[in-house]
Amino acid sequence: MTDDNGKDYIEGMSGLWCTALGFGNERLAEAAARQIRDLSFYHGFNQKSHAPQIELAERLLGLAPVPMSKVFFANSGSEANDTAFKLVWYRSNAIGTPEKKKIIGRVKGYHGVTIAAASATGTPINHQAFDLPIDRSCTLTVPTMLVAQNLVKAKSNIQRVWPKISTPLLSRKARTPLWPLLQNPSWALAGF
Ligand SMILES: Cc1ncc(COP(=O)(O)O)c(C=O)c1O
Repeated sequence: MTDDNGKDYIEGMSGLWCTALGFGNERLAEAAARQIRDLSFYHGFNQKSHAPQIELAERLLGLAPVPMSKVFFANSGSEANDTAFKLVWYRSNAIGTPEKKKIIGRVKGYHGVTIAAASATGTPINHQAFDLPIDRSCTLTVPTMLVAQNLVKAKSNIQRVWPKISTPLLSRKARTPLWPLLQNPSWALAGF
């Protein structure tokens, strides 16, 4: 990537992990053009589907590390996480455990910007001014020494982050079962 002063960068994040094959990849451009000429768009609302969607779902299921039977497509990580929460809440209602609605995130974990995903996110900047987190969401500390040490060093940060995020969990924990836990493999980015 080159900035507006002509300085070159290695784009290590690959456009938020969406361009791992590079920018302007010729094969991807050709595949997209071919598909757009054939069927440029069709929605998946109301039990609709179409051949490319079914084919992609089958290929993803084939790649999945554990046996799975369904794929739910979303347009972003935030939407995918909100959908995952809704599926969990739906299941809880369906099996007669409607009290199982809590979502647990981690301090500094990032899960997106929609209302539920931002609530599961453990950074005050994603909560302040938006009246988040929602009541079903709470945040635990991070299980790494590095973050724990940084929190201890930055006392003001603990005071800012800790009461706001952890206190609701402590007060709610005794009352209702908590589930599921959102664990971020690299605690600041990545993985639902
Ligand atoms: C772990 C994780 N979940 C969710 C998201 C949100 O994804 P999006 O920006 O596509 O809404 C991100 C984005 O960085 C992420 O790293």
